[in-house]
Amino acid sequence: MTMNPKDLAKKRTGEAAAQLVKDGMMVGLGTGSTAAFMIAALGQRVREEGLKIIGVPTSFQSVLLARKEGIPTIPLDEATHLDIAIDGADEVDPQKNLIKGGGAAHTREKIVAAMADYFVVIVDDSKLVEKLNTTFALPIEVLPLAAAFVTKRLEEMGAKVDLRMAIRKGGPVITDQGNFVLDITFPGGIDDPVVLEYQLNNIPGVLENGLFVDLADLILVARTGQEEVQRIE
Ligand code: 5RP
Repeated sequence: MTMNPKDLAKKRTGEAAAQLVKDGMMVGLGTGSTAAFMIAALGQRVREEGLKIIGVPTSFQSVLLARKEGIPTIPLDEATHLDIAIDGADEVDPQKNLIKGGGAAHTREKIVAAMADYFVVIVDDSKLVEKLNTTFALPIEVLPLAAAFVTKRLEEMGAKVDLRMAIRKGGPVITDQGNFVLDITFPGGIDDPVVLEYQLNNIPGVLENGLFVDLADLILVARTGQEEVQRIE
């Protein structure tokens, strides 16, 4: 089956990241279509090279993929430190700040990124932006009972707010923690991600927002139609 150029780029960056993993490492396993290619490539190394690693998945999706690929895992609540974490992103700005949460997994993803010595972000070039929140809404995980209150607070801050709805289920998306996701957009994008990250998490009822500030160590970018994977450090 032929793969479209964007998926080929995602596969290349996922494979490049899997090569960074060394024997004996504890590895954070991200969520999303790009991370899925990375997990598949890691699984291949486990089977073919006898690579010994322990994965820490960031979602039910990555638990199931790791299991399918034969990668041993421990649950997030048993981990406090990782050698490396590898994950996709929805937007990456020139300072390597990110928007994540397109797969509604940003709460676990941020915990995993924060406990890793080295956080690698794998993207195709469509994810590179000059300013965050200009091509992708910022996801906020909220307690369902606080969704109306948090929506009001966010609107008062000037954001457009959409409750994320499920596609093959009636009603809202429910996260792996049992919460709702609000997708928010600030007209003109986000001017100060550092301040906004704190402001958002300071609203009662917000569990976590999808701004990843000063967490990424390396961005691996695959450009559609090009073999080489670019490193941004
Ligand atoms: C999930 C995420 C994903 O990493 C992000 O949405 C990118 O996904 P994809 O690789 O499918 O474009 O943050 O919560």
